[in-house]
Amino acid sequence: MAKRSKSSQRWLQRQKRDYFVRQAQDKGQVSRAHYKLLQLDQRFKLIKPHSRVLELGAAPGGWTNYLEGRLSKGLLIAVDPLPITAGSETLVIEGMAGEAKVDASIADALQGAQLDLVLSDMAPNISGVRAVDQARSMDLADVALAACRKWLRRKGHLAIKAFQGEGLDDWVKTLRNEFSKVTMTKPKASRPESREVFVVAQDFSSKQDA
Ligand SMILES: C[S@@+](CC[C@H](N)C(=O)[O-])C[C@H]1O[C@@H](n2cnc3c(N)ncnc32)[C@H](O)[C@@H]1O
Repeated sequence: MAKRSKSSQRWLQRQKRDYFVRQAQDKGQVSRAHYKLLQLDQRFKLIKPHSRVLELGAAPGGWTNYLEGRLSKGLLIAVDPLPITAGSETLVIEGMAGEAKVDASIADALQGAQLDLVLSDMAPNISGVRAVDQARSMDLADVALAACRKWLRRKGHLAIKAFQGEGLDDWVKTLRNEFSKVTMTKPKASRPESREVFVVAQDFSSKQDA
């Protein structure tokens, strides 16, 4: 068997120790990310059984799996260029959020209806150059905000993963102009050593209302 590098040995050790990895394995969930959304939902009451939800960055499907358990009459549109493990009720769109082709498929699925919730767990491919990765992650945040401006209903919500660093504070200020309540939070299931945070923006008021 090929010898593992030190960093991959460290990753394996961490996975074995991680409480949420073990929970996800024991309960047959797709990934530990499931618990991040569960904790956000418990605190902010984001998802109702009839919600229409757009999930950006859905692969491999941890959040999708959680959402499918919470939605009974709603609509779930899950977007990612990578394969998503999803049930037959979920509309999977294979592609990059922000691309015209993907936008057209979302608009098609909504048939003029609006969304109650936009979720984004999108993360860029990591280059290892911090400034580049941060800029890419802020671009993805803009893609999620653009989706809200296109399809989110008045009083709808956004929950998005972001990374602490250049641009985040200004981006959150922009959100405060368009949502009545914006909270930056780190659920317990998010690894403490990671720069990852979640921004939950509640009660969207589109610019037209201003
Ligand atoms: C951390 S993973 C998401 C994990 C997922 N929420 C789960 O619970 O299993 C980040 C995902 O973002 C996706 N991604 C990155 N850029 C994207 C884009 N522009 N549109 C859609 N997905 C994107 C990646 O392909 C990757 O699958």
